[in-house]
Amino acid sequence: SFNLRNRDFLKEVDFTTQELQFLLDLARDLKRAKYSGTEVQRMRGKNVALIFEKTSTRTRCAFEVGAYDQGANVTYLDPSGSQMGHKESTADTARVLSRMFDAIEFRGSAQSTVEELAAYSDVPVYNGLTDEWHPTQMLADFLTMSEHSGGKQISDIAYCYLGDARSNMGNSLLVMGAIMGSDVRIAAPKELWPSDEVQEIARQRAEQSGARITLTEDPAEGLAGVDHVHTDVWVSMGEPKEVWDQRVHLLAPYQVNAAAMKATGNPHAKFLHCLPAFHDTNTVVGRDIAAKTGMTEGLEVTHDVFESPASVVFDQAENRLHTIKAIMVATIGD
Ligand code: CP
Ligand code: NVA
Repeated sequence: SFNLRNRDFLKEVDFTTQELQFLLDLARDLKRAKYSGTEVQRMRGKNVALIFEKTSTRTRCAFEVGAYDQGANVTYLDPSGSQMGHKESTADTARVLSRMFDAIEFRGSAQSTVEELAAYSDVPVYNGLTDEWHPTQMLADFLTMSEHSGGKQISDIAYCYLGDARSNMGNSLLVMGAIMGSDVRIAAPKELWPSDEVQEIARQRAEQSGARITLTEDPAEGLAGVDHVHTDVWVSMGEPKEVWDQRVHLLAPYQVNAAAMKATGNPHAKFLHCLPAFHDTNTVVGRDIAAKTGMTEGLEVTHDVFESPASVVFDQAENRLHTIKAIMVATIGD
């Protein structure tokens, strides 16, 4: 088995295929143990700091419940609740927190911030999302896909991500699939493809793993024959509100609706979304955009697809818990 003790979890490319597979297997074991009431606590007496410069529901709760299930404690530092970035440097914060905590989670904007925290910290640092990568989400997405692929190996799974692919989710789904040897499709307008640098990382890892990578502007090409259809919000946290108009214009043809699900040609194809999703007008942003654009059926995904039997988004959300717990147990567990 693999020893990930004291390792940071900053981005997918830092890991081998086997190490990521090990974390997925551990998450599956922890999930089974929790369901059967046989979970063994391996983090008793540990303390985990949770720094959030951006808001969160799933990631925060997964770290908190995962730590509590394993006997550890957490301290939540909200977007205004610490000196970091305002009165104190990242480097100093890292050195202070690593004298008190056994691990540090960070969610924020720049990948360089979480990398700097890790460089100055003596304890593992976990990336809970940056503008560039969302690596904890990837473990949940791959666990969910493997649970809903009729027993297929991960290297036999095909999936397509539609939408804003020049984002944490676009980057991470491209590179994670490349590492895991999957059939990865990105369908988006060219200006919203992952950067050349990210594409190069994916190509290198695909060469080693045997992954098939397709970037296309044609949704039909991306969708043909896939097992899973992914999307994400068209404007991410931290981006200016002004980009909505342009994104809606560029991405409307990439909406995941009934026709897109049908274009897979696979009646068993599943729908995934890291959430939160704008699939109705019940949210402030959804209401606002729907009023402006007339897209009342949903933005990146329609309400009917979101609520359909093909949608596995709440399994995916639950799997954040089991996979984040696996990262903590593997890196700081006894
Ligand atoms: N998917 C995800 O990261 O959700 P939160 O922003 O709620 O943590
Ligand atoms: N791309 C989204 C993901 C949210 C979990 C964002 O960064 O806002």
